[in-house]
Amino acid sequence: MKRTYNDINLQNRNSFGVVESAAQLVEFETADDLRDYFAEQKPAKWYVLGGGNNTLFTQRYDGVILSPTSSKRTILNDDGESVDIRVEAAHDWDALVEWSVEEGLWGIENLSMIPSSVGAAPVQNIGAYGAEAKDAITTVEYFDTKTLNVVRLRNEECSFGYRESIFKHELRGVAIILAVEFRLHRTPKPNLGYGDVIKEVEARGGATLRNIREAICAIRSSKLPDPKILGNAGSFFKNPVVAKEVAERLLKQYPDMPHYAVAGTTESVKLAAGWLIDRAGLKGYRSGSVGVHDRQALVLVNYGGATGSEVIALADYVCSRVKECFDVAISPEVNIL
Ligand code: EPU
Repeated sequence: MKRTYNDINLQNRNSFGVVESAAQLVEFETADDLRDYFAEQKPAKWYVLGGGNNTLFTQRYDGVILSPTSSKRTILNDDGESVDIRVEAAHDWDALVEWSVEEGLWGIENLSMIPSSVGAAPVQNIGAYGAEAKDAITTVEYFDTKTLNVVRLRNEECSFGYRESIFKHELRGVAIILAVEFRLHRTPKPNLGYGDVIKEVEARGGATLRNIREAICAIRSSKLPDPKILGNAGSFFKNPVVAKEVAERLLKQYPDMPHYAVAGTTESVKLAAGWLIDRAGLKGYRSGSVGVHDRQALVLVNYGGATGSEVIALADYVCSRVKECFDVAISPEVNIL
């Protein structure tokens, strides 16, 4: 079943809470809905909006916003140790994590409380606390708007990387994700290496799935603003990957600077954009209705009534200050429309 709305206000459909609208919004349930719509309407400009947690609208969107509504969760196979599940795009991400914890299934517990829909998770390969969605995804099923066919991509075909996937590149403007399949496990596999996770888990009595989920939720709540209270899109910027010489130069000057190895190379190093913004003196900085969050400098917030353009102006200012202070370029991870 497909529903169409014309001239729709998007304020309640984006976690930044910016006041913008779209010419049309189409809610769809199945691939057939999309096939009919693309065959009949041949839309020239469209964008898929899941939970609206990683999108910043900076103007009225003059195309069609496509929004999935199906959220069925199906167990495909259970061999006693591993369980394969298929989850449709509109399923809430954290509700899936909660279900997996309740069922005793390991694999996505470190991704607790990430504001996302399941369909959006593979696009930027959501990640936190040493885990990424790609570690549990086996297959992504999408509707191809060029051929009007349903396509299934195996994990290895999705070009997953740090906040990256094929859906941000070759398949941008082509694929509409319908469902994601995951393999979860009954054998415990705690992943406690990141930051304060181990300390928080031990404080709760050890590495059970429930304790890990609670620890992660506690850490996130202490640093990240709740979009229901303060509009935001999580990390606004990606952590920059720089040449090792750049990291060495900065480490001479700032020996305490957080830095991380990049998988597969010793030539590049990942820096913490939050730390750079913080050290540039911008944590808690406010300009009108927008600001840099006072507990996690990677997050830009809407104090109420902000437009997308105000957020962009702040983001540009943050980038230029970081560039001046450290000669490092940072860039948004949020989709800007
Ligand atoms: N830091 C500061 N000041 C800040 C923020 C961070 O000094 O204001 C320092 C921290 O002390 C730490 C380092 O920077 O040494 C890294 O900080 P943190 O562990 O909070 O993680 P992050 O790199 O800032 C990334 C993800 C988050 C994810 C956390 C935990 C990106 C862009 N962000 O943030 O993801 O929750 O790691 O794994 O990779 C999101 O994508 O929306 C998101 C919140």
